[in-house]
Amino acid sequence: QKLHFVVLLGSLRQASLNRMVAETLPRIAPEGIRISPLGSVGAFPLYDQDLQDRGMPAPVLEMADQIRSADGVIIVTPEYNYSVPGVLKNALDWLSRVAPQPLARKPLAIQTVSPGMIGGARAQYHLRQILVFLDAYVLNKPEVMIGQAATKFDTGRRELTDQDTRDFLVRQINALAELARAMT
Ligand code: FNR
Repeated sequence: QKLHFVVLLGSLRQASLNRMVAETLPRIAPEGIRISPLGSVGAFPLYDQDLQDRGMPAPVLEMADQIRSADGVIIVTPEYNYSVPGVLKNALDWLSRVAPQPLARKPLAIQTVSPGMIGGARAQYHLRQILVFLDAYVLNKPEVMIGQAATKFDTGRRELTDQDTRDFLVRQINALAELARAMT
């Protein structure tokens, strides 16, 4: 049957390169796969257990529900100072406190985009470490690290234009679908 993947974006800025990739995914989804965005991690307050004790914020519960009912998650994020952006870590910290924890045993793929040469690789390995504790089933390969992003986007039209990169994204989506199907 048709698979549904949801996209978690780790950048808040409007002109984000990662956002351009996230917005490309629904358009290049292969037959039999539907991809849709999750809400913004910017809607989450800074994690504070006192807040949690007063009741989980609505945007957290809403995203947790969307993740739980999806067949897989794609995290698209920049690298900040060789690691995961604080806003993404904050979102994962909140989600980790929801019961049942939505990312547990959830097929998940990571994509990073950077103007630099390394394409955000270092953030990916920090993110993988966090996701071990959350017990997500993180896809190993192919690893999508989009480097030298300036050459691959039409920033005026806000679009990922590089065809090889678009094809590579489709390969990863298909690999995530294979993982998701193997788990059902
Ligand atoms: C960066 N950037 C960056 N790039 C990288 O490849 N490795 C890094 O460690 C960092 N560190 C970093 C820290 C902070 C605080 C900022 C604001 C930026 C550059 C980053 O990749 C670039 O700004 C991207 O365009 C950010 O992603 P979005 O917002 O375009 O999706």
